[in-house]
Amino acid sequence: MGVLKLLFLLLLMLISLSAPTVAGKTTRHRHRRLKVHSHLKKLNKPPVKSIKSPDGDIIDCVHMAHQPAFDHPLLRNHTIQMSPNFHPEGILRESKVSSKASKSKDITQLWHLKGRCPKGTIPIRRTKKEDILRASSVKSYGKKKPHATVKPTSIDIDLNGQNGHQHAIIYVEGGQYYGAKATINVWSPKIQQTNEFSLSQIWILGGTFGEDLNSIEAGWQVSPDLYGDNNTRLFTYWTSDAYQATGCYNLLCSGFVQINNEIAMGASIFPISSYKGSQYDISLLIWKDPKEGNWWMQFGNKYVLGYWPAFLFSYLTDSASMIEWGGEVVNSESDGQHTSTQMGSGHFPGEGFGKAGYFRNIQIVGESNSLRAPEDIGTFTEQPSCYDVENGKSDDWGNYFFYGGPGRNPNCP
Ligand SMILES: *[C@@H]1O[C@H](CO)[C@@H](O)[C@H](O)[C@H]1NC(C)=O
Ligand SMILES: *[C@@H]1O[C@H](CO)[C@@H](O)[C@H](O)[C@H]1NC(C)=O
Repeated sequence: MGVLKLLFLLLLMLISLSAPTVAGKTTRHRHRRLKVHSHLKKLNKPPVKSIKSPDGDIIDCVHMAHQPAFDHPLLRNHTIQMSPNFHPEGILRESKVSSKASKSKDITQLWHLKGRCPKGTIPIRRTKKEDILRASSVKSYGKKKPHATVKPTSIDIDLNGQNGHQHAIIYVEGGQYYGAKATINVWSPKIQQTNEFSLSQIWILGGTFGEDLNSIEAGWQVSPDLYGDNNTRLFTYWTSDAYQATGCYNLLCSGFVQINNEIAMGASIFPISSYKGSQYDISLLIWKDPKEGNWWMQFGNKYVLGYWPAFLFSYLTDSASMIEWGGEVVNSESDGQHTSTQMGSGHFPGEGFGKAGYFRNIQIVGESNSLRAPEDIGTFTEQPSCYDVENGKSDDWGNYFFYGGPGRNPNCP
C-alpha cells in the first residue's frame, strides 16, 4: 500500500514536472508552423497557370491585380500604371556597341524553356516551405541584414570587413541622380558557406547610412539561403529605413508593382559566362518618372518590369544622392579565415575580358533626365587583396570596370 502510494506520488510529480515543457514546445512548434503556413499563403497568390522550371522552381502566373503589391495599405486603391510617362534616352545605343561587346549574347530566364505567362498576369517565383524554414525567422525571410551597404567616403568605413560584408565598387555622389544604367557580366561565383552570398548590382541611394537610408537595388545574386541552390538569379531589393523594418528582395513583400509577364524576379538567369569562353551580360536601367515620381526598372532592351511607387520612400521621393555599381559578398569567416566565396567571376580585374567580371556602359540619369556618363567616379574596396576593382573608359564600352576576386588566397588569409 505505502509503496504504491509513493510510486503514484512520484508519477504525479513527474507528470507535473514534464507536462508544461512538452506542452510549451508543442505550442511553440505549432505556432511556428502556423506562422510559416500563413506567410506562405500571403506570399503565394492563387495562380492562373503554373510552370515548372528545369531548376526546380515553380513559376506562378498570377493575375496582375492580385500581385503582392496590393497587400500594401497605401496601394489598396492604386491604379496600375501600365507604362512609364517618361523613358530616358541613351547616349550609347546597343546598336553602336561593337566588336568586344557583341561577343556577348542575349540572355533569358531558364523557366522560359517550359512555358510563358499569359498577358494580364505576372510571373512570380513560388516560395516553398523550405525557403522560409532556412531563414532565421519567418519575419526575416526575404530581408537583408542591416548594414548591408557601404558608404565609401565615410570615416567609419569598415576596413576589416567586421560587419562581414565586402565590396568592390565604383560610385558617384554629391549630385542629384534620377536613375542609373549598366550592362553587367553574368557569372556563377562559388559560395563557401550557405549563409553567405555573392552579388553584382546597382545601388540607388538616398538619405543617411545606418539610419534612414533609402535604397533601390537590382542585379544578379547567388544566395543559397534565400533560394536553396547555387544558381545565378535576377534580383531586386528596396528599403526605406536602412534594411530595418521596410523592404525585401524581389516580390517577397508588398511594394514593387510588376507589369511585365515575361521576367520573374528571383528566377535563374541563363546562360552564364565561362572562363575564357562565351560571355553573357544583362542590361539594367532604373529611372525615376518625373511626373508620377515612381522608380521604374527595365531588364535588357525590351522588358520594362514595373515600378516602386514614390510613396514607399522618403529621400528617394525627390532624387538619389549616390549611385554605386559593383560586387558584394558576405565574409562570415566561419573557420577563422577569410571566406573563399568568390565575387564576379572569382578572378581579379587584372585578368581582363573573358576572365574577370565586368560592368560596361555605366551611365546615370542626370538633372535633365537624360542618360549620361558619370563624372568624378570613385572606387572602393575593403581589401584589394581579396576582391578588387579597376575602372576605365573606351569608345566601345563607355565607362566600364572589371571587378571581383577569389576571396581567400595567400595574400588574403
Ligand atoms: C480606398 O477606397 C475606399 C472606398 O472609396 C476608401 O474608403 C478608402 O479610404 C480608400 N483607401 C485608401 C488607402 O485610400
Ligand atoms: C552549392 O555549392 C557548394 C560548394 O560551392 C556545395 O557544397 C553545395 O552542395 C552546393 N549546393 C547545392 C544545393 O547545389
